[in-house]
Amino acid sequence: MAEQSEKRGGFGGKLAAILAAAGSAIGLGNIWRFPYITSENGGGAFILIYLGCILLLGLPLLIAEFSVGHNSKSNPVDAFSKIRKGWGWLGAAGLISVTLIMGYYFVISGWTVNYAVASATDSIGGNYDGFFVDFTTATWAPLLFTYAFILANHFIIMGGVQGGIEKASKYMMPLLFAILITLAVYSLWMPSGREALGSVFTPDFSKVSGKTFLDAMGQAFFTLSIGMGAMLIYGSYFKKGTKISGTAISVVSLDTFVAIIAAIIIFSAGVEDVKGPQLAFVAMPKVFSAMPAGNIWAMLFFLLLGLAALSSTISMHEAVTSYFVEKRGMSRRRGAWLVTGIALTLATIASLSMGPWSDFTVVGMNIFDLLDNFTAIIMLPILGIMTSVFVGWIWRKDDMKAELTAEGGIDKATYPFIRFLLKWVCPVLVSVVFIFGLIDFINGL
Ligand code: PHE
Repeated sequence: MAEQSEKRGGFGGKLAAILAAAGSAIGLGNIWRFPYITSENGGGAFILIYLGCILLLGLPLLIAEFSVGHNSKSNPVDAFSKIRKGWGWLGAAGLISVTLIMGYYFVISGWTVNYAVASATDSIGGNYDGFFVDFTTATWAPLLFTYAFILANHFIIMGGVQGGIEKASKYMMPLLFAILITLAVYSLWMPSGREALGSVFTPDFSKVSGKTFLDAMGQAFFTLSIGMGAMLIYGSYFKKGTKISGTAISVVSLDTFVAIIAAIIIFSAGVEDVKGPQLAFVAMPKVFSAMPAGNIWAMLFFLLLGLAALSSTISMHEAVTSYFVEKRGMSRRRGAWLVTGIALTLATIASLSMGPWSDFTVVGMNIFDLLDNFTAIIMLPILGIMTSVFVGWIWRKDDMKAELTAEGGIDKATYPFIRFLLKWVCPVLVSVVFIFGLIDFINGL
């Protein structure tokens, strides 16, 4: 047993576990997706609903996922089936979802690299919309940046859990926080920034609908990397004595902090006229260009985005790679190349669907948007429901309690509360939000 776990690898300590898991959580979801979803959904009102989802649903589900991984010390498929035979499909469904997410996530990650380079060399020029459209709809340029990003990811994964993931997180996360704080201080220092902020954070409940709740929940699950095996596999690498609940609370706090600060940075720029996925890419360079040494600030911003994306994509890649290595008996090298190959293929399709293949649509969406919407609106809620059902109802009560309250686990007093959330609140609330939000979404198509 000991020999086997040595071979599996694991994080060196508690801080490493927090940094890696926070790296998975903090990503494009916080800096790119959260601000634009917030601005589309009535600002402050959306943030309140979102925070409710994080606390009532996201945190218990994160604890659940860490526990399943930590308990079974396995890849996502074996983890579920070791605890209860016949449930491996739940891990597989998560891995399929995370693979689809990789398909479009890597493309945006590639954009961040191009924007960081273009900002540093001051080559965006004055035409921000035009630059974005020309670049993202081109054939080769976005592909090349995306491929470079996927390869960077690949080599971190090849380095192993400690030598690759842990080491990368140890350098990337502090750098990410330093850039984030610098940008936040800078934007709040501008008087116009403080003014613009007020208008965005004031709740506007007239914009709240069933879809708002679904968006808030989808965002909460997405940003915490819930249900897709990424947190599960990291949980399986926690060293003995790593507190699961403590780690989960740290990850949730850091993740929420970054999302709010990112929204402050972006909204303080007063960019209400730019909506949707372009918010970070079109509005930010425009704002920075009006500032002294603007191109340096812009470069820092895109570097921030790229670092956040990289620490998230390594967790996605690792979750799927671990499956090929442990379940299919491949060497780490082979497994990693296979996942990299799948990522390259899907990302190529997603990137081309923005430009040359944009005529191909399903329910009015190109492949890129389809991957984003299908995973966030449909797969994430279903995986959230099933994970809570698994932990709350399927996992043997005593075993689950032993895992959750064992060395490092939740203390005996908070345990019943977490169990109640997982057994009742998560399945019921997520199902209700899912069904009503979906009806709203379909009506809106
Ligand atoms: N949580 C990441 C983000 O907010 C995305 C992610 C999803 C990472 C699924 C891993 C698994 O960007």
